[in-house]
Amino acid sequence: MNDYYDVELKNTRLELLKAYESFKFVKGDIADKDMVMGLLEEYKPDVVINLAAQAGVRYSIENPDVYIQSNIIGFYNILEACRSHAVRHLVYASSSSVYGANKKVPFEEIDCVDHPVSLYAATKKSNELMADTYSHLYKIPATGLRFFTVYGPMGRPDMAYYNFAQKYFAGEPIQIFNDGDFEHDLYRDFTYIDDIVEGIERIIHHPPEGTALHKVYNIGNNKPVKLMTFIDTLEKCLMKATAGVAQFIKLYEPMKPGDVPATYASTDLLQEAVGFKPETPIEEGLQRFSDWYVNYYKVKSQP
Ligand SMILES: NC(=O)c1ccc[n+]([C@@H]2O[C@H](COP(=O)([O-])OP(=O)(O)OC[C@H]3O[C@@H](n4cnc5c(N)ncnc54)[C@H](O)[C@@H]3O)[C@@H](O)[C@H]2O)c1
Repeated sequence: MNDYYDVELKNTRLELLKAYESFKFVKGDIADKDMVMGLLEEYKPDVVINLAAQAGVRYSIENPDVYIQSNIIGFYNILEACRSHAVRHLVYASSSSVYGANKKVPFEEIDCVDHPVSLYAATKKSNELMADTYSHLYKIPATGLRFFTVYGPMGRPDMAYYNFAQKYFAGEPIQIFNDGDFEHDLYRDFTYIDDIVEGIERIIHHPPEGTALHKVYNIGNNKPVKLMTFIDTLEKCLMKATAGVAQFIKLYEPMKPGDVPATYASTDLLQEAVGFKPETPIEEGLQRFSDWYVNYYKVKSQP
């Protein structure tokens, strides 16, 4: 419940979860070892899913401390707690950012991920190494899921698609970092939130067995979309959600250093393991996001 972005949005999600009788919320910091150990001791869970982390690549450039606290110390505490209170399966969020500036696509789990280009990515790669060691030493079945750009209703306001929607309703320009080069536009995998949820649900029931008790899977859409196609689709969906006619005001900026032409996931391993891969098309996912956004913020159309 940190205030990296609007806590109201987090409270709204929490209220929805509280509707489930079996849901229990404990407010705490995973960097607090006693708290984490105490929770596992009290509830003795079969399965632990850790999604808590300081997210965001850009924020990590200026705020490294919090990444070490939450993503390294915090994740270490989760591992320690799973060591003390044996769990059937630990599932945790890794990230496509571990692939750094790799050029070979699609990204495969066997690719070299030794050159993360941000501290955020380095913490996620470290989580994979730490989980691997704990699985090996203490026989904790663990699975890391490398999420590829997740979007959807109630998503993260710091992410581009959400920020674009905010700008749209404020009548402000959006910045697009592609040099205005549509022919050689960037390709990205955009993964709808429900597909991530389904992937997690399925993987819970497939803890690694045998000698290799730690596994890592990509979970991405496997259908790269041109950045401009994504933006045009979002524009159409926002217009449809508001029955409006206004369009994005677009500012084309130089590509950012380190931006790679294409990033998308090979999902063969995931499909082999759980018989599923994310497939929600952006037209559907972005419409659901737009409809939710309009309803949540009670916005009608562009000013
Ligand atoms: N959204 C994406 O595109 C994406 C891509 C790759 C990986 N991930 C990973 O997926 C996971 C979920 O990300 P998200 O996009 O939902 O981000 P999010 O920021 O909405 O969710 C992370 C949550 O963790 C909480 N948190 C942070 N530090 C904590 C701490 N020390 N103790 C307890 N809670 C803490 C935050 O308050 C936040 O609510 C993260 O591990 C993130 O790194 C997300």
